Amino acid sequence: MVMKADIGVIGGSGFYSLLDDAEEVQVSTPFGPPSDAVTVGHIGSRTVAFVPRHGRSHQFPPHRIPYRANLWALRSLGVRQVLAPSAVGSLRADLGPGTLVIPDQLVDRTSGRPQTYYDEGGAVHVPFADPYCPAGRALAVARAQGDGWPVAGDGTLVVIEGPRFSTRAESRWFAGNGWSIVGMTGFPEAVLARELALCYTTLALVTDLDAGVESGEGVTQEEVFAFFAANSERMRSLVAALVTELPAERTCPCGEALAGVKLPFPLP
Ligand code: ADE
Repeated sequence: MVMKADIGVIGGSGFYSLLDDAEEVQVSTPFGPPSDAVTVGHIGSRTVAFVPRHGRSHQFPPHRIPYRANLWALRSLGVRQVLAPSAVGSLRADLGPGTLVIPDQLVDRTSGRPQTYYDEGGAVHVPFADPYCPAGRALAVARAQGDGWPVAGDGTLVVIEGPRFSTRAESRWFAGNGWSIVGMTGFPEAVLARELALCYTTLALVTDLDAGVESGEGVTQEEVFAFFAANSERMRSLVAALVTELPAERTCPCGEALAGVKLPFPLP
């Protein structure tokens, strides 16, 4: 049976499954296999495809995640809207652990990650001034506020190469630039979604204050994973609610990202 889905969820650290009665699908892509088997199931009237970003056993560090395969696999299943929960550090003391940030901007500080599908066959330049789906962001902010989350409805996510955390000097520099949160996986995921004309919304859960903001020993993997795990049920409920609220017909600009562009190959 060919499985189809209309919404994709890419789960972050501590978020390795979404649906209890889901079917597993092995998807192959020109970019190799995705991080793990994709599970497809229903929430309300919507069909959802879930992929654990780091793999089910957290086998992929941020710089080794097969980002291109993950997004390609989702689109080839029919997905057009993607929700992307992830753990982030805060660069602002007023955005403490537990805050949900729905960023509206992104800064790429990664290096060497494959970040485009359009390597060959002619130039394809996608618009990326506003990297996130405006419709998905608005819904996420409203629903999270309604559910009582502390929410920041905008902010800039800086994505570092990792896998190490930032030094205090780097972190202070990020904060001094006015950036709000720091993570390791939001890029190239966001741009690859745009290159496939997908809606993409980051749900960034603050798990820690980054090194430039806190005065202790710095951030540890243990604290990040433990905090996200403790909040994973809450995140799961938010994602499930958003899945039912995303519009069935897209009216945002995301689907038009490739309008007028001659593509070197058909999209899946
Ligand atoms: N993910 C969670 N916390 C983080 C931090 N402080 N820096 C980078 N990525 C993170």
